[in-house]
This record gives sequence, structure tokens and C-alpha cells, in this order.
Amino acid sequence: MAILINNLEHSVVRAICSRYDNRPDALLEILHETQETEGYLNDETLTTIARALNISRADIHGVVSFYHDYRREAPARHIVKICLAEACQAVGCEVLAAAAEAKFGAKIGGAKSVDRQIGLEAAYCLGNCALGPSVMIDGALYGRVTPDRLTALVKDRSTAEVQKS
Ligand code: FES
Repeated sequence: MAILINNLEHSVVRAICSRYDNRPDALLEILHETQETEGYLNDETLTTIARALNISRADIHGVVSFYHDYRREAPARHIVKICLAEACQAVGCEVLAAAAEAKFGAKIGGAKSVDRQIGLEAAYCLGNCALGPSVMIDGALYGRVTPDRLTALVKDRSTAEVQKS
């Protein structure tokens, strides 16, 4: 069964490469689209892309490690991006970030929560400067977020997800 799933994943990745005519100069677009589809870029995926584009794995690893937006492991169920740029700093984003790390047991840009449900990431301006501290949870933007409000927002999203299923 695992082999079948791996082959299906690879056919998806190969299809993405084909859409770009297996062009090495389209590597960034291919990596981006693959991550959008697969959630992250694992070793097997990078090998498939390297073969399709006829480039070395070392070249791909260099690109993936250079850009912080590429994930090498499965993301947490909920991604919480906390803006740490200047306008949000002026209204307490660092306190919010520290409280979030303590509350969820996760590190910004590092370890997920123990249950792997929450991942914390830094953002450097979410375009919501007048309403900071700003946070984006699974792509939804929130302003004037306090530690208590952040906890409630994450809980609401988790609850809504359970109700949908
Ligand atoms: S500085 Fe935080 S949203 Fe712009």
C-alpha cells in the first residue's frame, strides 16, 4: 500500500514537472506548486523533481535550504503566523509571540506543539499595520490580537474543523 501511495505522489509531482516542460529554470515554480499540493517537500519528492529536470539533488537542496518558505517536513494542522515587524513591535507583538510559544509549547520557526496541531511562524508585515498585533491563522488575518484572543481564535478554528468533519 505504501508503495502505491508513493507512486501516486510521484505521479502528481511528475505531472507538475511536466506542466513546466521539465525545465530547470522553472524549479522555483515547480517547488512552490509541489509544496502547495503535497504540503511539504520530502526527500522522495526532491529526488523525483531532480530526475524530471535532469539536475542534481544537491542543486535542489541548495535552493530549498536557501528559501525559508519551503518546508521539509509535514506542517502542523494549524499554522499561526505572528507579525514581528516594526509596527506590530510597537504594540506588543513580542509579548504575544512569547505567550504563544508558552501556551502552545511550540517555537516560532521551530518545533510544533507536542500534539503537532500548532505551528508558529514569524511574519514580517501582514499588511495590517494599523491594527497590530497582527496574526494570520491558516490564511485568515486577525488584528489587535492579545494572548487570550489568540488562544480563543485557535480554539475556534480547531472546533470549527471538528464540526465540519
Ligand atoms: S507590521 Fe505587522 S502587519 Fe505590518
